[in-house]
Amino acid sequence: MDDFYNSLPAEEDPEDIYGGLRPEMAKAMNSLKDEIDRFRKETMERDLDDPVDHVLARIKDEDSMIDKLSRKKLPINARSALCEVHDAIGIRIVCPFINDVYAVSEYLRSRRDLEIVLEKDYIKQAKENGYRSLHMIIREKHGFFAEVQIRTISMDTWAALEHAMRYKHDIGGNTELIARELKRCADELASTDLSLQTIRDMIRQAK
Ligand code: GTP
Ligand code: MG
Repeated sequence: MDDFYNSLPAEEDPEDIYGGLRPEMAKAMNSLKDEIDRFRKETMERDLDDPVDHVLARIKDEDSMIDKLSRKKLPINARSALCEVHDAIGIRIVCPFINDVYAVSEYLRSRRDLEIVLEKDYIKQAKENGYRSLHMIIREKHGFFAEVQIRTISMDTWAALEHAMRYKHDIGGNTELIARELKRCADELASTDLSLQTIRDMIRQAK
């Protein structure tokens, strides 16, 4: 294990699951957001269009982190929260078009100060329920991990609706029908995303 891991509290802090490191986490999260802003500016200078619609960043709240550690049967301390689990910092980047999603991921891969720990391409290989998104676990230079989700606007709209369904327990007998309809919509949206990409490319070539 590395120095960062060893520097983190291994005892339980009843006040703060992140052992007082929230300011450092916020700094790491904000500099990742700044990186994305730089990429947007660079891209816009080159080809005018903004590759990103919006960015959301959050630090996983105390209760959800403790829940997750318990679920994974990990000790409830800052070490597990910041090193065993990799989404204490979460960044969601929502893009207009599919090619933008891959351009953002390519940019993150090109950054020397970021380590790419894991990539999951749920766009090429959608989840069974229809979920699509590109996930990257990255590690920034101070040692903090972050889960980056990159997706199109339609993937994001779909994920929000599917998430709402999952946490709504009173839809009763309609669950199966809703899941089936969601899957159908996910596939239609994916095909529309591809068409929109093609149309945008045609418009660009004509310019
Ligand atoms: P942990 O959930 O962190 O244990 O890891 P995992 O291997 O399940 O990670 P995965 O990359 O599959 O998912 C991480 C995050 O992506 C989740 O916490 C959600 O925010 C999002 N996500 C993954 N699958 C779905 C899905 O089917 N629907 C929605 N709405 N979000 C999903
Ligand atoms: Mg999960």
